[in-house]
Amino acid sequence: MAFLLPTTLAIIALVFSFANAFDPRPLQDFCVSANDPKATVFVNRRVCKDPKLVTEDDFSTSGLNVSGDPVGGGLSINTVNSDRIAGLNTLGISMARVDYESGAMASPHSHPQATELHLVLEGTLEIGFITADPSNPTKNRLYAKTLNAGDVFVIPPSLLHYQANVGKVKATSFNSLNSHNSDIVIASYQLFGSVPTISDDILSKAFRVDKETIQLIRSKFA
Ligand SMILES: *[C@@H]1O[C@H](CO)[C@@H](O)[C@H](O)[C@H]1NC(C)=O
Repeated sequence: MAFLLPTTLAIIALVFSFANAFDPRPLQDFCVSANDPKATVFVNRRVCKDPKLVTEDDFSTSGLNVSGDPVGGGLSINTVNSDRIAGLNTLGISMARVDYESGAMASPHSHPQATELHLVLEGTLEIGFITADPSNPTKNRLYAKTLNAGDVFVIPPSLLHYQANVGKVKATSFNSLNSHNSDIVIASYQLFGSVPTISDDILSKAFRVDKETIQLIRSKFA
């Protein structure tokens, strides 16, 4: 590799920019996150614990045999990310148990960093995501399915999606995400619950309704 042409370098840079679109592959076996107030070097917001002090417990947790904390609307989420298992830090993977009361729904949202795989263990869920036509963003296609125990559905990264318990009994799913600590962006809260607020004028034009309708919707997300 005596020298590389600029075009070759440009192609390599392009390839690596795609490869880095997700949590990067770590350069060490693990970086168990530690809270060290004196630390000055951070990897994914945390410092790495001294490997000599790392134990099995840094890679383990319990409690997914029960539902997590209620988050409102009949939904409970039991999340296992790098906040819960310090050893997950930098590994690019996490999971969650989600419990839905009958009629409960995860409102349209997205995970900017992560692909999400849903495995239904119990009950009946409708899960769907939406894509825009690249040549015409006003044309959108919904991909949705009704899923029962044992069924799996994948949500491509960053696409808007929802899950709804359309059955008469409670439903449970296990979801895996290819990020060690995935963000969640909820469309309705982004548009109607931001601080400061997006003006009534902007939203009434965007949704083609009068300002009173916008104010009514906004009041639900205050
Ligand atoms: C769930 O697992 C924990 C151990 O991690 C155990 O203490 C608890 O009794 C279990 N709960 C149920 C409802 O099985």
